[in-house]
Amino acid sequence: MRKKLVAGNWKMHGGLQANAALLDQIADGLPGVACDVLVCVPFPYLSQVAERLVDSRVALGAQNVSEHAAGAFTGEVSAFMLAELGCSFVIVGHSERRALYGESDLVVAHKCQAVLAAGMQPVLCVGETLAEREAGETLAVVARQLHVVIDCVGVESFARMVVAYEPVWAIGTGLTASPAQAEAVHAAIRLQFAGLDSVVAEGLRILYGGSVKPQNALELFAQSNIDGGLIGGAALVADDFLAICRAAN
Ligand code: PGA
Repeated sequence: MRKKLVAGNWKMHGGLQANAALLDQIADGLPGVACDVLVCVPFPYLSQVAERLVDSRVALGAQNVSEHAAGAFTGEVSAFMLAELGCSFVIVGHSERRALYGESDLVVAHKCQAVLAAGMQPVLCVGETLAEREAGETLAVVARQLHVVIDCVGVESFARMVVAYEPVWAIGTGLTASPAQAEAVHAAIRLQFAGLDSVVAEGLRILYGGSVKPQNALELFAQSNIDGGLIGGAALVADDFLAICRAAN
């Protein structure tokens, strides 16, 4: 049995006071939560959040990382730095990074490699745009995005990775993939891995992301290949985030 994981992606939101209040509210609700919980916060707040999460079962993650280990890369942050600050997960290849900052499949693969080398778990995001879905290319796009990373890090590395399926058209739009639409892609992802390594395939946690809310989380998480969620907007409201976590119980 794969233990479910609910991960909050705060994106570029937050502030010292707001973070403290949100984390306190989440801590209050944690006794009712059985799944693994992760918050991925902006770089400047990693130390603040790490300090508040000491002795908590909430894990800390970052939202991006450099593919390089060190050097003249102004403005970039290395995986080693994130690990040193207490991160155990890093979101890699989020569609906003791919679309707005031009991250290619290969760059995403190298970032996964850097995260793994620093002893952390990549949360590798994949997903199709609306145009790709309408052209019937969903499974091919997702398979390609995964293939490039598998080629680079090796399938066995996925024993220490999480995959997040996030249809681009469902992110922040209020449109959610139906449980059946999501499950079809999740099942295809697991099948892709099963063809390479059945043990890795069986253990791989595949999260769904894209307008997950308390109202739709239960039905999504009930699908046999959906192992939790990557939550954007609803992760900023403690009651909603906790309700989604409880839906994964
Ligand atoms: P959303 O974002 O829940 O606001 O749609 C999900 C994500 O981008 O990870």
